[in-house]
Amino acid sequence: MIKLKAVLALTLGCLLTLSVQAVEVRDHHKEVIGKDCKTCHDNGIKQFPSDQSCLQCHDVDDLAEQTARNEEDKWQNPHNNLHYGKELPCQECHGEHQPKQPMCNNCHTFKFDKHKQ
Ligand code: HEC
Ligand code: HEC
Ligand code: HEC
Ligand code: HEC
Repeated sequence: MIKLKAVLALTLGCLLTLSVQAVEVRDHHKEVIGKDCKTCHDNGIKQFPSDQSCLQCHDVDDLAEQTARNEEDKWQNPHNNLHYGKELPCQECHGEHQPKQPMCNNCHTFKFDKHKQ
């Protein structure tokens, strides 16, 4: 019985290690975050991170300025747009471990040339 528990513990340990190694963090985050998953995963590793975790380093007002469009298209700004203003969660458009397309194009065909997924 004791042996079985030890084997189980080992197997579990390996599975956990595997799942940690399986995820890739993006190049632009590697330098500032490294392997510290908790920097983003403030809700635990199995849950999606909150927006608050992104906002430790990113600022919504700055982002809205950086991706501002000309007057005619201004409400297509992903970070300050017609339907949601500045309130849309980052993860609707940005994945970390897998690519993601801006959700706007579920319904529109806007050009987001600089999107880093
Ligand atoms: C820069 C922020 C960031 C860092 C650092 C980060 N993650 Fe994530 N993680 C996310 C985001 C955003 C999602 C949800 C979207 C996605 O899958 O890309 C996610 C999703 C996940 C999921 C999937 C949850 C689900 O239900 O699908 C796992 C597992 C995970 N991360 C593990 C890790 C591990 C392990 C590390 C450390 C090596 C790590 N993450 C580091 C942002 C991050
Ligand atoms: C510890 C600080 C930190 C955290 C936390 C963080 N980032 Fe970043 N992020 C950076 C830095 C630094 C860069 C590279 C410089 C830049 O583009 O602002 C970057 C770059 C990015 C880029 C690419 C910008 C480009 O075009 O090159 C995206 C998209 C991004 N972050 C989204 C997120 C999201 C979404 C989250 C939360 C899940 C998050 N970040 C959490 C620091 C952070
Ligand atoms: C509606 C989709 C959407 C949402 C929500 C969103 N982004 Fe973005 N983000 C984009 C797109 C698209 C770009 C590329 C710029 C472009 O094509 O206009 C971008 C660019 C960026 C950049 C690079 C800015 C630069 O210098 O060009 C960062 C950093 C970033 N996003 C972080 C975030 C963070 C953090 C959040 C949450 C607070 C967030 N984004 C929410 C779609 C989105
Ligand atoms: C579920 C579908 C849906 C999603 C997702 C969606 N929209 Fe829309 N949007 C519409 C509808 C419907 C209209 C009104 C009809 C029209 O004018 O095309 C509209 C109108 C608009 C308009 C004014 C008309 C135009 O085409 O310029 C803008 C700007 C806009 N949306 C931006 C966005 C942005 C940015 C996003 C992502 C953050 C987004 N939408 C996500 C359905 C959607």
